[in-house]
Amino acid sequence: MSKKPDTTRRAIVGATVGVGLGLGALSMLAPIAALKPKKEVTPETEPPKEGDVFVYAEGDRKGKEITLDDLPKGGPAVLAFPKDPETGVVKSGERNNLVLLIRMDPGELGPEVADYAADGAVAYSAICTHLGCTVSEWEPDKGLLLCPCHKGFYDPRHGAQVVGGPPPRPLPALPLIVKGNKPVCAGGFTSQVGVVAGLEPQGGSCAV
Ligand code: FES
Repeated sequence: MSKKPDTTRRAIVGATVGVGLGLGALSMLAPIAALKPKKEVTPETEPPKEGDVFVYAEGDRKGKEITLDDLPKGGPAVLAFPKDPETGVVKSGERNNLVLLIRMDPGELGPEVADYAADGAVAYSAICTHLGCTVSEWEPDKGLLLCPCHKGFYDPRHGAQVVGGPPPRPLPALPLIVKGNKPVCAGGFTSQVGVVAGLEPQGGSCAV
């Protein structure tokens, strides 16, 4: 599929109401991280790296490692943090480490993301590229990721391309492999996480 935004689809999804992933607290977070000075990197804040596994970011299973069986084919997505399997440290000290794990039929994945997927599982940054809210909802009818702040829609089958709303660019992908039936990080994000200077709208805010 073309990488160009599908303006027709934008119009279709623009009025759609998404379904929450049950992660309200994280979705309420404003993009404060984008405005703060750089923090010292610690084991809890270092970015995901090759070999990291993933744990639930919140909910009843918060901190539990995620297997492929935990990811229902066709969605919804699961919010997760990377974890260093050597030290056991969960990298939840940095909001930009929050990722969306989602599993699809491998045949549904477009060439934009096929290189980063493993057994149909893909991972994307959960930080909206518009104003940095958490992409915390799922639109079940269209199978799209939804940022509730300004109804930004991303297509997980096609590299998290923007298919509705104001985000200026896709969500960065995080390459995966599978080890021991678990999705495992195979490298860093494919592009800068969150709001990129110069692409953000003037005078905007991340009101939920
Ligand atoms: S912050 Fe996500 S659509 Fe505006």
